[in-house]
Amino acid sequence: ILCDIGFIGLGVMGKNLALNLADNGYTIAAFDLDTEKVASAINQDKLERGDKPQRIFPCTSYTELLAKLKSPHLVILSVPAGRPVDDVCHKLIDAGIEADDIIVDTGNSLWTDTVEREKNFEGNFLFFSTAVSGGEVGARFGASLMPSGDRYAWTRIAPMFKAIAAKVDDATGKPIERHEPGNPVTEGEPCATYIGETGSGHYVKMVHNGIEYADMQLICEAYNIMRSGLNMSPAEIAVIFRKWNEGELHSYLIEISAEVLEHIDPETNLPLVDIILDKAGQKGTGLWTAVSSLQIGAPSPTISSAVYSRALSTLKDERIAASKVLAGPDISEFNLDKDEVIAQLHDALYCSKICAYAQGFQLMSMAGKEHGWNLDFAGIAKIWRAGCIIRAVFLQSITKAYERDEELSNLLVDPFFAEQIAKYQTNWRRTIANSSLIGIPIGAFSSALAYYDSYRSEILPANLLQGQRDFFGAHTFARTDKADGKMYHVEWSQPNRPIVKV
Ligand code: 6PG
Repeated sequence: ILCDIGFIGLGVMGKNLALNLADNGYTIAAFDLDTEKVASAINQDKLERGDKPQRIFPCTSYTELLAKLKSPHLVILSVPAGRPVDDVCHKLIDAGIEADDIIVDTGNSLWTDTVEREKNFEGNFLFFSTAVSGGEVGARFGASLMPSGDRYAWTRIAPMFKAIAAKVDDATGKPIERHEPGNPVTEGEPCATYIGETGSGHYVKMVHNGIEYADMQLICEAYNIMRSGLNMSPAEIAVIFRKWNEGELHSYLIEISAEVLEHIDPETNLPLVDIILDKAGQKGTGLWTAVSSLQIGAPSPTISSAVYSRALSTLKDERIAASKVLAGPDISEFNLDKDEVIAQLHDALYCSKICAYAQGFQLMSMAGKEHGWNLDFAGIAKIWRAGCIIRAVFLQSITKAYERDEELSNLLVDPFFAEQIAKYQTNWRRTIANSSLIGIPIGAFSSALAYYDSYRSEILPANLLQGQRDFFGAHTFARTDKADGKMYHVEWSQPNRPIVKV
């Protein structure tokens, strides 16, 4: 038989995406440099499908893969981001891929690489990208997909990507989940919407990951306040997280944090979290988000702070040495009321989370303007309601905010979110004040509050800053009392310091 899809890269994500496609009725010709990975996907397909016809078929070369496909060919890549994507594309050109064929990159590629690739491969084949969020379970039973590139290519492949996407109840914003092989969810709204021109989907996925970094770091700081400030056990903290998961803070990340905290290591019988080394890893997407925000001038301090926190965590040896010589406050001197601190912490986490998402959406908005993408923010919030790592009921409120006003300059000024922060901010401020007093690091919490306070300030001390710049570098300044669009400079070195119009 000729297959619907050629699939290259059967690692954890690739295998699960392939099984998901098979569940949805598509036949797949599969290739991986590691033949065992192909065999494992086929075995699992057989195991799950039983007597029903096989849907995943092995290939041992790129030429064989193309020969086994219907025309025009469609090839999906799930290979590591970077050079492997280019290598595979070149191998497919050598194997005879044609101009009307489509290659879809599903990896965490840097968005500028995606733009380059579309240009470089023009005429050889149609290069399309669909960023995927949701980890292995999402890939298997429904992920959040952020496709971008050639519209004609999207029309051809949209049905299959919508089929393997997570589904959500549009009215409530709640995911429709069923983790049953062979019985995919077909009802509800698919979390797969065309994002825009080439690169925009990977940009949006990158920002998703930046928000993911911030959200995770905020949860970790909340955990640390309870663990180090209140001396609570991981199991006790898990109970708090479970309670929070029933309200505004409901999210996949809170839920899995509770699961991690509850887990007991079978070897030592200790809470697993207590024996996990406190050095955070990262693959780069959070860093790319922070770098892009600096380049564009879109303030995203909570996202950047989360990246710095991961970096600081890796300096374990230095931290151990510093812990012996650097003074901090004596926590025992403070009388903390546990219930009060926890209640305040809930509000602090919620307000900080709103700021982190506001930063991510503002970044996308500024990037969209810079790159000429017409991003639909309600649409983006919608596809993040299910399937992806940051999925949460909270995304329904963001969807509604952008449906109310598609030109919204910042989530913070949406009436719903403005009212939420007004209601909860006292406890947010108390949490930050108290954590600072007892010496618990809260980079993400405090950067979120500084973002909020800066954003709501009609006047910032940048006036003095402009004066300083003019003093040492003649960098000039605009005047608030003159609307002439001109810049001014003080001749600081002259005795009477005359002001000149530049
Ligand atoms: C997702 C995740 C996924 C992955 C990243 C982040 O949306 O499914 O974001 O892309 O977990 O690789 O990993 P790091 O924390 O290692 O940067």
